[in-house]
Amino acid sequence: MAKAITIFFSIKGQTLGAGMKIVEQKKGNTAIAAEFIHNAIGGELFEIEAARVYSKDHMTLINEAKQELQAGTRVEVKKYPESLDDYDTIFLGYPNWWNTMPMVMFTFLEHYDWTGKRIIPFCTNEGSGFGESVRDIKKIAKGSDVKDGITITGSQVKNMENRISAWAKGQL
Ligand SMILES: Cc1cc2nc3c(=O)[nH]c(=O)nc-3n(C[C@H](O)[C@H](O)[C@H](O)COP(=O)(O)O)c2cc1C
Repeated sequence: MAKAITIFFSIKGQTLGAGMKIVEQKKGNTAIAAEFIHNAIGGELFEIEAARVYSKDHMTLINEAKQELQAGTRVEVKKYPESLDDYDTIFLGYPNWWNTMPMVMFTFLEHYDWTGKRIIPFCTNEGSGFGESVRDIKKIAKGSDVKDGITITGSQVKNMENRISAWAKGQL
């Protein structure tokens, strides 16, 4: 049996809800998906937090993220799991930001040696799917086996527990 950890980054507060309306939520979409996966498969759950503070205003956050991407900023990670040695399977979750993953995910991935690990990405988004993110993960996480993963419409995630749980169980 694979030993799995679910690792994710997510923003709480303002986000795009149904009909592209800005809504306020206590838990981010990717966090909700990560909990469904964790509940389905067990193992550990780890939230990546950025050391920088993002604006609580959605449109300002959109611009902040664009600047980071354009500058290739390696946003600092607050805290890392000490080691991933105990895990062979990593469910890796993030929102699609500007057609790839948030820059803090690049920083996180560059911190470890991924040789021999199985990475299963899950990406919440509002229409762009994975964008370039899986290609970007493959570029950084050399020696790993990056699976196809799943994309999830963020504004629909609350209704998708059954589908996400069944998918996650099917990966082990
Ligand atoms: C900075 C930023 C950039 C985004 N860029 C895209 C995008 O390029 N394509 C897309 O489909 N959704 C985009 N979105 C929507 C998010 O991917 C979506 O709302 C996601 O579910 C948010 O996840 P979270 O609540 O876990 O942070 C963007 C959202 C933000 C905040």
